[in-house]
Amino acid sequence: MLIAGSANPQLATAVSTAAGAPLARTAIHRFPDGELHVALGDSVRGQDVYLLQPTSPPVETHAFELMLLADAARRAGAARITGIVPYLGYARQDRRAGGREALGARVMADLLGSGLERVVAVDLHMPALEGFFSVPIEHLTALGVLVERLALPEVNERGVVVAPDLGAARLADRYARALELPVAMVLKTRLGGTEVVARGVTGDVRGRVPVIVDDMISTGATVAAAVAALLDAGALPDVTVVATHALLVQDAIQRLERLGLRRLVVTDSVQFATPGALPVEVVSIAPLLADVINRLHRDRSLADLLVHG
Ligand code: R5P
Repeated sequence: MLIAGSANPQLATAVSTAAGAPLARTAIHRFPDGELHVALGDSVRGQDVYLLQPTSPPVETHAFELMLLADAARRAGAARITGIVPYLGYARQDRRAGGREALGARVMADLLGSGLERVVAVDLHMPALEGFFSVPIEHLTALGVLVERLALPEVNERGVVVAPDLGAARLADRYARALELPVAMVLKTRLGGTEVVARGVTGDVRGRVPVIVDDMISTGATVAAAVAALLDAGALPDVTVVATHALLVQDAIQRLERLGLRRLVVTDSVQFATPGALPVEVVSIAPLLADVINRLHRDRSLADLLVHG
């Protein structure tokens, strides 16, 4: 049985169609004091339940709504409850950069683990986040579907895959191998939530077409800094950006528009604002999620779909 929260109705419909499983009825509303109320409209007793909800902004609302759905399903007698969480919020708070800070990713992992028996996630900020969860995680990647969309001749001829920061180096290496391209990296320092600076580029980008890859784009500051550093280093201005999660918060769209990108290739893991004049190509992860749901339901292996290390 497939049940969706309110975070990404379009993805929910697409997963339902691809999985051949109708969406169960739900009633989600807010009381006047702001509290959420959730009720299931169909019986789930004895069912293998899949709760689809990216914990995208507003993260707390979507995460709590997911947990209310899990609680409703458990109390209504569901046999097994799996969370399909294509985007995991708070994942970037995976370490304490200073004293007296909270470890947000751990708090999120504990919250999800308190009501779900298994979590399916896509392109986690760091694969090591799996270790924060007490319940099993199935860590999928959208790299396959994104590479399929990217693999056009102009990318393959003079391209270079670029990690916009150290954290994306592994991901960039995986893209570079899949696209058979060299890899470079931008040296980035984050000054604040919306401010980053790039101190230079390692690797040969001169005269090459950059393909910047990242797990997510939030404010677009990282991409903007990377593009500036790449142009300074002699890369061609024909920039493609690929990211799994397009949060595109605050003025990200305007910021990215100013960069004159050639392509921005993202997935539908989260619902984002209308992209204006941005050359956005959205690749759906619905078939991937539907495949995983069908395999989990039949206790079949996911080995060929999972990311490790
Ligand atoms: C950081 O480590 C992430 O992988 C992204 O590079 C970053 O979170 C993107 O955020 P923004 O678009 O706000 O720079």
